[in-house]
Amino acid sequence: MTVYTHGHEEPVLRSHRWRTAANSCGYLLPHLRPEMTLLDVGCGPGTITNDLAALVAHVTAVEVSDTVIGLARDAVDRPNVDFVVSDVHELGFDDDTFDVVHAHQVLQHVADPVAALREMRRVCKPGGLVAARDGDYAGFVWAPQIAEITEWQVLYRRIARSNGGEPDAGRYLLGAARAAGFEQVSAHSSTWCFATPEDREWWAGSWAQRVDGGFATPDDLRRIADGWRRWAESPDGWFSVLHGEILARA
Ligand SMILES: C[S@@+](CC[C@H](N)C(=O)[O-])C[C@H]1O[C@@H](n2cnc3c(N)ncnc32)[C@H](O)[C@@H]1O
Repeated sequence: MTVYTHGHEEPVLRSHRWRTAANSCGYLLPHLRPEMTLLDVGCGPGTITNDLAALVAHVTAVEVSDTVIGLARDAVDRPNVDFVVSDVHELGFDDDTFDVVHAHQVLQHVADPVAALREMRRVCKPGGLVAARDGDYAGFVWAPQIAEITEWQVLYRRIARSNGGEPDAGRYLLGAARAAGFEQVSAHSSTWCFATPEDREWWAGSWAQRVDGGFATPDDLRRIADGWRRWAESPDGWFSVLHGEILARA
């Protein structure tokens, strides 16, 4: 069993609430049609789900966690969304149910992304689309160079792996989709970029306040948080977050 590395504390949720379909699903949006049904796996606090619901006939939002599905239920304000607690490795839906099955930043956290993609394919109608996007933490780049952020990058990747996830999942999505048996897969990459004072404050704040223990002492974590604050305060601060994406035909 994997542990969800980020937890569901307020800084984490704030970071997930910044996400929109426009900034996180650009690769999928041109393929959506008003008559479609969509499964949003690992919907988190539901901001992307809410946006997707404006573009299709019906969305089913799935979360492994009862608490988070409750947050999504509170945040989503469209009537065409259902909420279901289910695990991506064993989705509680019939074969061939949805036109589109989508997962944003989920497969990096799961025990078996190939099995998860097979399961996403099972519930997708033949000819439908399975779409996934994940970060690639080793591919993050930033300026100015701040040693504590490099330290954070090493630490985060160790913690994510010890929790059973793959922090560099973005680059492996194509291989995972092929291993899951998809024959038609297109793979792309895209980034988030944080370079304004507001965006820097938000992005740094979402990491500086996360106090993942285990691999670091409280002093290490304080030093890393200070590094994030120095980066956020620098007018030259720029951060690019690499993501891998796949669109696979079921
Ligand atoms: C990084 S969050 C992404 C949330 C949302 N998709 C977004 O991008 O805003 C990952 C979510 O996947 C959920 N998750 C983790 N493992 C899962 C699993 N095995 N099945 C379903 N959801 C899972 C977590 O509870 C968490 O809410």
